[in-house]
Amino acid sequence: MGLSDKYKSIVFFTGAGMSAESGVPTYRGRGGIWSQYNWEEYACQEAFDRDPHKVLKFHELRRQSVLSCRPHPGHYVIAELEKMHPQVRAVTQNIDGMHQRAGSRNVTELHGSLWRVRCPSHGIFDDMGETFKSCKCDKCGSWLRPDIVWFGDMLNQDVVNEANLIVRRSDLFISVGTSGVVWPAAGFPKIAKESGAHCIEINPEPNEMSYLYDKAIRENAGIALPALFDEDK
Ligand code: APR
Repeated sequence: MGLSDKYKSIVFFTGAGMSAESGVPTYRGRGGIWSQYNWEEYACQEAFDRDPHKVLKFHELRRQSVLSCRPHPGHYVIAELEKMHPQVRAVTQNIDGMHQRAGSRNVTELHGSLWRVRCPSHGIFDDMGETFKSCKCDKCGSWLRPDIVWFGDMLNQDVVNEANLIVRRSDLFISVGTSGVVWPAAGFPKIAKESGAHCIEINPEPNEMSYLYDKAIRENAGIALPALFDEDK
């Protein structure tokens, strides 16, 4: 009997470590993005207001890097499970779109997406490809910024509310590849625990939230996820 027969509402709560084996760098730890780039120059509204070209160029480099990567077996496990059990959800902090490229449709993107841009007056537009289609809104000429939650930004409250509801309703909460340091996402394991979910952490390293989990799998996502759902094929 596989896990997806035992649990009715499985939530995968993913962070940058979920995409590490695809080749997408994490933010913290060895080789992390924030050890190479100062987020105050590249990933906050003040930096964008100061030098929009510099910030857009940084995000185009990230788009090019992500486009050269591919989903790994762990992404496909989540997507295949969702096909068998439509209530399977991914709540991700990642902006790389890797879950969707593997076929997942039920994805809540807490921190936005590299593949969307936002006009302050005319809303959000899809924007795929290595470079941004346009830097300025063709309706009002405002600079278009990536639709990503930067440091200091408020999260979209509707997205947070949706994610909270999904986590509260889960009976199996599997966290994959997050350091658990950025709020409000860092609070989700506690919400899942308090809602009675069985909580599993997949991360080679422990962190401050690890104590909340019923089980820790100190393994890479691309190995741990196929093994965990081996009987669910
Ligand atoms: N499999 C599973 N976990 C991994 C792997 C792997 N192959 N490789 C690394 N990890 C773990 C690391 O041990 C670490 O705990 O992934 C985690 C990555 O942590 P962060 O780089 O801090 O990424 P994340 O937790 O997603 O960051 C949260 O911070 O900068 C903001 O908005 C950004 O969404 C991001 C948020």
